[in-house]
Amino acid sequence: MTHTREIPRDTTDLDIPNRLLLGPGPSNADPRVLQKMSVPLLGHLDPVFLTLMNRIQELLRYTFETTNPLTLAVPGTGTAAMEAAVANLVEPGDRVLVCVNGYFGMRISEMARRYGADVRVISKPWGQVFSLDDIRQALAARQEKLVALVHAETSTGALQPLEGIADLVHAQDGLLLVDAVTSLGGLPVSVDRLEVDACYSGAQKNLSCPPGLSPLTFSPAAEARLQNRHSPVTSFYLDLTLLGKYWGAERQYHHTAPISTAYGLFAALRLVAEEGLEQRWERHRFFARRLWEGLQGLGLEFHVPEAHRLPTLTTVCIPQGVDDLLTRQKLLQEYGIEIGGGLGELKGKVWRIGLMGYNARQESVDRLLDALRFLLGK
Ligand SMILES: Cc1ncc(COP(=O)(O)O)c(C=O)c1O
Repeated sequence: MTHTREIPRDTTDLDIPNRLLLGPGPSNADPRVLQKMSVPLLGHLDPVFLTLMNRIQELLRYTFETTNPLTLAVPGTGTAAMEAAVANLVEPGDRVLVCVNGYFGMRISEMARRYGADVRVISKPWGQVFSLDDIRQALAARQEKLVALVHAETSTGALQPLEGIADLVHAQDGLLLVDAVTSLGGLPVSVDRLEVDACYSGAQKNLSCPPGLSPLTFSPAAEARLQNRHSPVTSFYLDLTLLGKYWGAERQYHHTAPISTAYGLFAALRLVAEEGLEQRWERHRFFARRLWEGLQGLGLEFHVPEAHRLPTLTTVCIPQGVDDLLTRQKLLQEYGIEIGGGLGELKGKVWRIGLMGYNARQESVDRLLDALRFLLGK
């Protein structure tokens, strides 16, 4: 075997451009968050860092609208939080119902299968949402230990109503799991009022923080399910009994916390609290409406009817004769703006436009509409 100590030929730096990230995520981090992330590291058991963790937990409870003691930030991106929720609540053979109306619902069902669940899927065309009756009917067919839904389907732009679902699930001793990656911090998630048992999100969307630590909360019932498992959680890294002992009073070492990302999340959540949840939701609604009016003015149509359209992520139909890839490339190269293409069955059919967190403001709407007006020749 030959070993080489050759220095890689290119050791030059890379200029990182300042893009306007109006795709499905990441969205731009708030500059105040980025600034806080550049301060010196602390040890992960330093008393100041432990205080910061406590403060993150308090702020997460505020943002999730919950009093759940088991509320923390999972190391990793939204997928890690999704996997933590599934891995901790699912045991081999458990019956799990996943409501799939987009890419991320499919991902939850795939994860539950990998953790040995007996998964049943009910499906809707991408862009539509489930009614209470759909869920009632599905639950009449068999008893489920866990029911999973995506609140804000980033692949379709649809907002799944959650009212009343927990009652149906709890009536048969099941738990309700909700993906709030594209809703938390941008629209109400109301974990306690809606009696959601497990809910998770990501940092890089409506919270305007770089990805890397992902909010998660478990209700007392979900925590009890975790305590009463027959088998240990298969994933060591995502085992919430262990993570909970690091975030809880024990302060038991489990992993080295991503220190700078925690500074960022703390700063981002403080900004959420300073603005206030209601004001923040209203800001997202307000600028989404402005975006929709502008897009309509350009003759564009929406994939999701307004009644179920997400304010944080809009799917707009690509007009006939317009080159999807070329238009997005021009937006990026000539205007410094990123938007997303369609995922899965919506590939080539829609563009996905995010107005999330820091980016939910007039400047984003204006810059995008100006660029699209020019590129579409309107
Ligand atoms: C609804 C939803 N769930 C889960 C994820 C996965 O999060 P991440 O890409 O941060 O791992 C995403 C990411 O876009 C998402 O939009």
